[in-house]
Amino acid sequence: MKRLLLFALIGTSIYACTDVVNEVPNTPFSTTPYTFTYNKNLLPPARIPKDNPLTQEGVALGRMLFYDPILSADSTQSCASCHNQKDGFTDNQLQYSIGIRGTVGKRNSMSIANLMWHLDGFFWDGRSDILRHQALMPIEDPTEMDETIGNVVVKLSNSLMYKEAFEKAFGSTVINDETIGKSLEQFMLTLVSANSKFDRVMAGLETFTVQEQTGRTIFNAEAIPLNEEQDPNNPQNFGADCFHCHGNSLFMSREYLTNGLPNVTDLGRGGVNGNTRDNYKFKATTLRNVEKTGPYMHDGRFGTLEEVVQHYLGDLSDATSDLGNEPNMHALRDSVYLSEDHKAALVSFLKTLTDEEFLTKEEYSNPF
Ligand code: HEC
Ligand code: HEC
Repeated sequence: MKRLLLFALIGTSIYACTDVVNEVPNTPFSTTPYTFTYNKNLLPPARIPKDNPLTQEGVALGRMLFYDPILSADSTQSCASCHNQKDGFTDNQLQYSIGIRGTVGKRNSMSIANLMWHLDGFFWDGRSDILRHQALMPIEDPTEMDETIGNVVVKLSNSLMYKEAFEKAFGSTVINDETIGKSLEQFMLTLVSANSKFDRVMAGLETFTVQEQTGRTIFNAEAIPLNEEQDPNNPQNFGADCFHCHGNSLFMSREYLTNGLPNVTDLGRGGVNGNTRDNYKFKATTLRNVEKTGPYMHDGRFGTLEEVVQHYLGDLSDATSDLGNEPNMHALRDSVYLSEDHKAALVSFLKTLTDEEFLTKEEYSNPF
């Protein structure tokens, strides 16, 4: 009954939803489970870490920390400085992110959405595999917030507001790296994007335009060698193979891959695991809200989606990585011919992944 009531109160989505109520362990202090809804027909089952169930208190604390510049050495920068809600939680303008004192980083900021289903690896090179550990890394990164966790603990412990918030969330006013990481993890896990036009079409509530539908067909079709008998106007003949690496409703892959960029200098995954076969491979990150998350790629080299599409469907012969090891890019290199209309259709399909509710939702915004 309680479940139903919560569902009725919180469920605002218009289609079949799953409500997720976490089991909160029996502790002397009491917390309220955080409940959220998402389209269970489209997204995989929720993956909440068993040792960090979402509570309203924990999520509220994580949201405060995410938006508070107190985490940076000179109190000028919060997580949100580089992960802006309206830009799909990226810094929409910058090729490389800029840390405190104007320090330029070496990679493009990533979007934060549906991280619950990325639990295998974070960052372009996947160097962190646990979100609560990942959450502490920007704080200590000299090109980002350049602070020590020790100092953060001191600063937060001097704040009555934070002592109370930590006590409510974790039952103790003693603040440490574990509770800072866990609360940021909780907040970030609530950032679910599942109400784009794409989602609503899949739920039967809206329809794609002809152009968007053409784009979807191209996105989801295999790249096949072109032969003269093919009708150049039939998009079924011109798969762009995007789905192989940005598939399913998450529009991402759990693998580290190469997408054939030329002049890559960053070793990516290979720099993390020392395996030369993984050199220049990166997380095939989600395309949800991609209209808002540019510039694109680990090094932010492309300013627009048109440039991205041009890359994939253009000349891939100068790729830094050996495309022989990446069958899907290999197929793409040897096959695709798309007209300008088809490329525009692909871009228009990508734009159906924009989720205005996600980009403006009050619960995800600055609480201060
Ligand atoms: C100076 C800008 C900057 C700040 C501040 C910053 N980030 Fe990031 N964030 C980035 C960049 C750049 C990347 C990609 C870095 C890489 O791959 O090496 C990233 C990646 C991430 C990712 C990985 C997403 C994925 O799909 O793998 C998460 C999660 C994240 N940041 C959370 C945070 C949190 C939490 C904070 C605050 C504690 C924060 N960031 C502060 C720039 C920033
Ligand atoms: C072989 C796997 C593969 C295929 C096929 C593929 N991608 Fe990618 N995609 C990736 C990888 C890997 C990255 C990250 C590369 C990097 O940052 O260097 C990426 C990045 C992107 C980005 C940038 C995302 C961001 O936030 O910066 C876009 C947009 C994109 N792909 C769109 C597409 C489209 C459209 C297609 C089909 C034409 C496609 N991809 C086909 C693997 C692939």
